Amino acid sequence: MSAKLIKGTEIREKILEEITKEVAEIKEKHGVVPGLVTILVGENPASISYVTLKIKTAHRVGFTEIQDTQSEDISEPDLLALIDKYNNDDSINGILVQLPLPKHIDEKKVLNAIDPDKDVDGFHPVNVGRLMIGGNEVKFPPCTPAGIQEMIVRAGVETSGAEVVVVGRSNIVGKPIANMMLQKGPGANSTVTIVHTRTKDLAGHCKRADILIVAAGVPGLVKPEWIKPGSCVIDVGVNRIGMNEKTGKAILRGDVDFDAAKEIAGSITPVPGGVGPMTITMLMRNTLKSLKFKLGA
Ligand code: GUN
Repeated sequence: MSAKLIKGTEIREKILEEITKEVAEIKEKHGVVPGLVTILVGENPASISYVTLKIKTAHRVGFTEIQDTQSEDISEPDLLALIDKYNNDDSINGILVQLPLPKHIDEKKVLNAIDPDKDVDGFHPVNVGRLMIGGNEVKFPPCTPAGIQEMIVRAGVETSGAEVVVVGRSNIVGKPIANMMLQKGPGANSTVTIVHTRTKDLAGHCKRADILIVAAGVPGLVKPEWIKPGSCVIDVGVNRIGMNEKTGKAILRGDVDFDAAKEIAGSITPVPGGVGPMTITMLMRNTLKSLKFKLGA
């Protein structure tokens, strides 16, 4: 049997259409649109391409967007002052500082300087705390975990009472998605296990999973025999394993042996085209939410 493919590219299109429609309605009713600023420090090529795509997507859904590019040697106080400027700018609803930052800048200090009510990445400790409490407290779920949960729900996979196993314990994916899946509420109510590099029986845990979420950053880590037949497999890994000499593009592989896994799982995300496109989509949703909170809409 071949698993149903959960395509992030298709889900992204649907959600961006929903957001575009809502932005137009808010504009009509309140005369404002969401404003997003992305702050890029330096010239890291991967960061430039992420930020370019974020800005392009913001433009597509009708936001006003600012790309604020700063030189690699901006001082920490100057960067903090820039964030403060946007914290106090009424036309800005979302502030995103692209990571990683140069070594002379304390990333934690910078993330903590963003107004939690404009922290559309969901990385500020206040938003991490809100996520942990759950329910109505949650303002901005971090974008990749929010995208994962959305994919699971839109694929029609039952989460209530499901055994969810999360491989990886990062602050950006593993810890928040585990927390989100165990909360009370729709798309959650799961029984969650987090496994990591020190876990004794990785395979044994994975084999129990009705929903297996893999964010380890190790290509092909999850073997087909670890997958429970009929389960839902979400592969968050994006690993460059080489270069296509004809196209000059990187060859990407996930953390799961996709070709074999798709014959066992009930549903599975491909790499590329799975979780990847969802992250920026959720950033747009968080920025729209930020304006709606402000308007009380
Ligand atoms: N760098 C890589 N991914 C991300 C992200 O989701 N947010 C920010 N701010 N920086 C990143």
